[in-house]
Amino acid sequence: MSENSRRDFIKQAAMGTAAFLAYPKSSVLGANERVRLAIIGIGSRGQELLKQTLELPNAQVVAVADVYTRRFDEAKKISPGLQTVNDYRRVLDMKDIDGVLVASPLHIHARHFTDTLAAGKDLYSEKTMTWSIAEAGQCLEASKKSDRIVQIGLQHESEGPLADAKKWIRDGMVGKVTQVESWMSRNTPHGEGQWVRPIPADCTAENVNWKAFLNGRPDMPFDPFKFLNWRLYWMFSGGNITENMVHQIAWIMSALDLPLPTAAYMSGGVFSEKDGRQVPDTISVTIDFPNDIVVAFQSTFSNSRYGLGQRILGSDGTIEYVAGSNDMVSSRSEEEVHYYPEDVNRPNRVAIKGESPSQNHIANWIDCMRSRKTPNAPVELGYSSAVAAHMANLSYRHKRRLTFEEAKSIPPEF
Ligand SMILES: NC(=O)c1ccc[n+]([C@@H]2O[C@H](COP(=O)([O-])OP(=O)(O)OC[C@H]3O[C@@H](n4cnc5c(N)ncnc54)[C@H](O)[C@@H]3O)[C@@H](O)[C@H]2O)c1
Repeated sequence: MSENSRRDFIKQAAMGTAAFLAYPKSSVLGANERVRLAIIGIGSRGQELLKQTLELPNAQVVAVADVYTRRFDEAKKISPGLQTVNDYRRVLDMKDIDGVLVASPLHIHARHFTDTLAAGKDLYSEKTMTWSIAEAGQCLEASKKSDRIVQIGLQHESEGPLADAKKWIRDGMVGKVTQVESWMSRNTPHGEGQWVRPIPADCTAENVNWKAFLNGRPDMPFDPFKFLNWRLYWMFSGGNITENMVHQIAWIMSALDLPLPTAAYMSGGVFSEKDGRQVPDTISVTIDFPNDIVVAFQSTFSNSRYGLGQRILGSDGTIEYVAGSNDMVSSRSEEEVHYYPEDVNRPNRVAIKGESPSQNHIANWIDCMRSRKTPNAPVELGYSSAVAAHMANLSYRHKRRLTFEEAKSIPPEF
């Protein structure tokens, strides 16, 4: 298939034409018909996503953009033929790129999100969708005005345990839910703070486009520690809430079909390793929803005994999702979901273990690029989970319970 006819095919698919319906599934597409992708931000997660795309028969990452030269060598070790560019706008200019995966640091997501849609590309954007509530609103708007397919990197939306939980809830097995408890716990050796990355010798001002990384933050001299460890600072990150809670709150909101939260309160602090980080490592959050549900989330970085999980507590049954002593980020842990009946309202029922298979989240996005259907983690979930996360963080920073309206009106704070 020529490049033109390939693009026509994608266009026809976008319009849902008979030509598309008659077109065989990806298994018969040859190498030239592969969906062509680019990745913006080819650091730790970007490289992970790159590896995942290598497993997909019908897609190929052909270009990557980054602001740190080292990343190009690392990416080429994974996929030697890659085109590498040091300005993300160059990949957006490439006419033969169909979709872009964004795995840049949190504070740059909104720029990469809106520019990707403006360039007419489909988008896979890593979580959390944006650094602030205002940016989340802008990205939601941009997506609504666009016909592009947007998948948020909340990969647990494509996994079997959530499908099981949704089914049990739909089937009325859980009853009235007023509370959900969730937790995420990790540990590190004494003296080593969670997330802290060493600085390679080549991480210098010559090899990094520091201004592009700052993305409008107040100008400051090149700081390799901050560049690599952006997660530890509010001006780039939302800490453990946007790195981890967002996965779990999205899962809970999706399972229970929850609207935006009404209020949030978060306490905690930097207690585990006092290494200069700003974002707390010990966290207790409550998030109120308008339909009489409170979700609690707690997290520590100095004990990993109970891994992570969430329990949906219903009058007729409990859904318990647990993931060993690992985390939701690497996806390496064994995860299980169970249903336990409440004898008082559902006597003589038995516990059930979820068995639904998981889907590959990137493959789901690519399928949707062809079918123009809504992916498993759509922009609306990206928006609502980002809002919940930012409400929690803003409450912590302002040391008081905040409603959605209050949180929304707080201007960005670096
Ligand atoms: N879904 C998941 O499970 C999961 C797991 C890990 C990370 N993430 C997310 O992925 C994102 C990246 O995290 P990470 O650990 O890979 O960070 P990282 O620092 O390892 O990688 C970010 C990359 O972006 C590059 N970059 C910085 N500014 C840029 C710019 N202006 N244009 C292009 N590239 C730029 C950096 O040089 C770096 O290579 C975060 O949003 C994080 O939350 C998601």
